Amino acid sequence: MKNFGIDKMKKSAGQLLYQRAKRLIPGGTQLLSKRPEMFAPNVWPAYYSKAKGCKVWDLDHNEYIDMSIMGIGANILGYADDDVDNAVMEAIKNGSSSSLNCQEEVELADLLIELHPWAEMVRYTRSGGEACAVAIRIARAHTKRDKVLFSGYHGWSDWYLASNLGDTDALDGQLMPGLDPNGVPRGLKDTAIPFHFNDIDELKFKADGIEKEIAAIIVEPARGEDAPKDYLVLLKTFAKNIGAVLIFDEITSGFRMCAGGIHLNYGVNPDIAVFAKSIANGYAMASIIGTEKVMSSAQSTFISSTNWTERIGPAAAIATIKKYIHENVAEHIINIGDAVKKVWLTNSEKHKININVSGLPTLAAFSFLAENNQTMMTVFTIEMLKRGFLGFRQFKPSYAHSTDDVSKYQNAVDEVFFNIATKPIDELLVTPVAHTGLHRLTKE
Ligand SMILES: Cc1ncc(COP(=O)(O)O)c(C=O)c1O
Repeated sequence: MKNFGIDKMKKSAGQLLYQRAKRLIPGGTQLLSKRPEMFAPNVWPAYYSKAKGCKVWDLDHNEYIDMSIMGIGANILGYADDDVDNAVMEAIKNGSSSSLNCQEEVELADLLIELHPWAEMVRYTRSGGEACAVAIRIARAHTKRDKVLFSGYHGWSDWYLASNLGDTDALDGQLMPGLDPNGVPRGLKDTAIPFHFNDIDELKFKADGIEKEIAAIIVEPARGEDAPKDYLVLLKTFAKNIGAVLIFDEITSGFRMCAGGIHLNYGVNPDIAVFAKSIANGYAMASIIGTEKVMSSAQSTFISSTNWTERIGPAAAIATIKKYIHENVAEHIINIGDAVKKVWLTNSEKHKININVSGLPTLAAFSFLAENNQTMMTVFTIEMLKRGFLGFRQFKPSYAHSTDDVSKYQNAVDEVFFNIATKPIDELLVTPVAHTGLHRLTKE
């Protein structure tokens, strides 16, 4: 066993700092998915002092191999990638911001259009939620309509959370349960309407009678599983027939299975596609690409922000995408993801634990087929921490993960599944159970 006991984990510098953070920062962190409570309350290391490759060091300088969310999918090449960081340092040395614009914006636009030949114009923001909001604004400006039909997760903005105004669980089943629309104007009620992935009948049912009010249909083209191609084709035909803009949110799926949006694999092109996360290997960058016809409507409204002009984001994105293509990163991460899925499956068979393995290889996940799945998953994370791994129900591989890392992970999973299979779960559960969605945090 690599690290230390539970008592030491509970008193780690990271946990102590997090207790302070909860008093200073409402919700503790800036991203729900990085809350320690989402993994293993009271023991998750919470903060890092250094991250390199697929390794992370906590504030007490303990080293972990990250077999979890890898910067929630952003660090597709691995942490502190030298090529990307060198491009960023060059951009900083030459001035990361000025009264003039940075030329990298144009180079990146060329690169994104080269990868997606159906697209003709590009805008940028610095985070994914912002980019989705821009895409929706452009679609509304273009169609002069208000309503949006959506499936999947698209960020924290008013336009999206509005779907919970009428029916407070509308967003359940769209990835993140329990999202409260407090603070979203009630006037937006009925402007964002959810339907489920791969359910064209539901989409048509929800659109019935309001077809000419629908500005956009926005979906994650694939996420949990491969998308049936027919689904995307039918979406495109339906959007065209009713005059709505079809938006593919590729913030999570982009660059996971190929160089560019996952829609390239299906050969179905939207009117707009949105990217963030992995396009810049963890640097703040997002882009909205689309046809000239639709994107030109960005000029008929006001979409503008100072920090969307800085140089680090585009410089990082160019370096990330070039390396991704040069090193055929897609092939590597698909192989690593498949190998990890196999680790889960073989060890569950070996220790006679029922699990369900799901997801694309590069967005892999597992769950215990048991009523107390969340308790077992919390124990899994705690036991993996003890062995020097950030381990979770999801695994997002990066170019920095090697087969050697997977072998080490295999040995640890073998031991942890053995413990889960043979010891009383309540004895192993030394913390509260991890959260699954949005909870109000209390000061401790
Ligand atoms: C599909 C999708 N859309 C939008 C977002 C929001 O992006 P961000 O967290 O960068 O605002 C995410 C983030 O997880 C996402 O996965």
